Amino acid sequence: MKDTSRIGILGLGAYVPERILTNLDLEKMIDTSDEWITTRTGIKQRHIASREEASSDLGVKAALEALKDADLGVEDIDGIVTATLSPDHIFPSTACIIQGKLGAVKAAAFDVGAGCSGFVYALTVALGLVETGFENVLVIGTEAISRFVNWQDRSTCVLFGDGAGAAIVGRVNKGGVLGFDLGSDGSGHGLLTVPVGGSREPVTVGNIDQNRHFLYMSGSEVFRFAVRILPKTSKKALEKANLNISDLDWMIPHQANTRIIDAAIDLLQLDKNKVIVNLERYGNTSAASIPIAWVEAVKDGKIKSGDKLLLVGFGAGLTWASMVLEY
Ligand code: UT7
Repeated sequence: MKDTSRIGILGLGAYVPERILTNLDLEKMIDTSDEWITTRTGIKQRHIASREEASSDLGVKAALEALKDADLGVEDIDGIVTATLSPDHIFPSTACIIQGKLGAVKAAAFDVGAGCSGFVYALTVALGLVETGFENVLVIGTEAISRFVNWQDRSTCVLFGDGAGAAIVGRVNKGGVLGFDLGSDGSGHGLLTVPVGGSREPVTVGNIDQNRHFLYMSGSEVFRFAVRILPKTSKKALEKANLNISDLDWMIPHQANTRIIDAAIDLLQLDKNKVIVNLERYGNTSAASIPIAWVEAVKDGKIKSGDKLLLVGFGAGLTWASMVLEY
């Protein structure tokens, strides 16, 4: 008989655009070097969406793969929660555009704005929806962040990449979500932002001239925040799950910088071999980074059904989010 108290992952999917931009390509565009990018971030290349691809297009492809993995059809989906900081439009939500493209006629759809923590935030929203009666909720982290990057700004443009990941959340017979932790500190909202284009500072020719419609980040401050918050939120989620760090099979951190991940692993005293890192090939894909890494690790045969996982993200807001689950 189905143990309906458990809620977990029914299927996973990911998609990255075809075009690859390497560090060597960037060397030809701006004053940077493969050596600087590799040693400071761990990134070697990133994928860039084509002119025709917006966040919803990447998200649809990841969603179709997740549905296939779950052996479900679009008609089985009753909720779509999309995490993105590079939406197709300010409104309507990217989730609604995805709903229309999928033809998921039974689904409610909305976006979650929690920066790079968005995918884990969206998973917890899906958890709540399933707890209160929804059956199969599609969670998508999708980013065409290259559209918001200032390609003249070497301090940010080398970091980001495009892509999408998706999960179907529903009732499971075994395993499922064991605990999570969410948090925010809005006093840091200006550290990572697209300043122009909202109601605070609408678009004008003047602010476009100042490049204020592009992504801005105070890298070193976000770096310090990330190193501090990653171990803290991870420990809280583990506590809620009643598990110790040694009980984990895998940690899937937000893929922003290998130095951030290494510092967090040291503080957590976690075996490095248990940490999924793939940012050398994708860069920072924001809300998509955790599901892309997750899908890849499953395909590589690293993560297996029954494994205990820690997902942990941090980013714009500032926000953080961690979740412990049995896959
Ligand atoms: O996903 C959400 C959150 N995002 C993050 O987690 C990113 C967090 N921050 C970081 O990962 C790091 O702060 C960065 C990778 C962005 C920057 O690394 P850093 O070690 O903090 O470097 P920095 O900003 O202190 O810059 C050091 C130097 C500067 O030169 P000077 O002033 O020392 O002469 C920069 O101008 O490196 C220079 N620099 C570059 N040089 C070559 C900055 N970007 C580049 C570049 N190529 N692309």
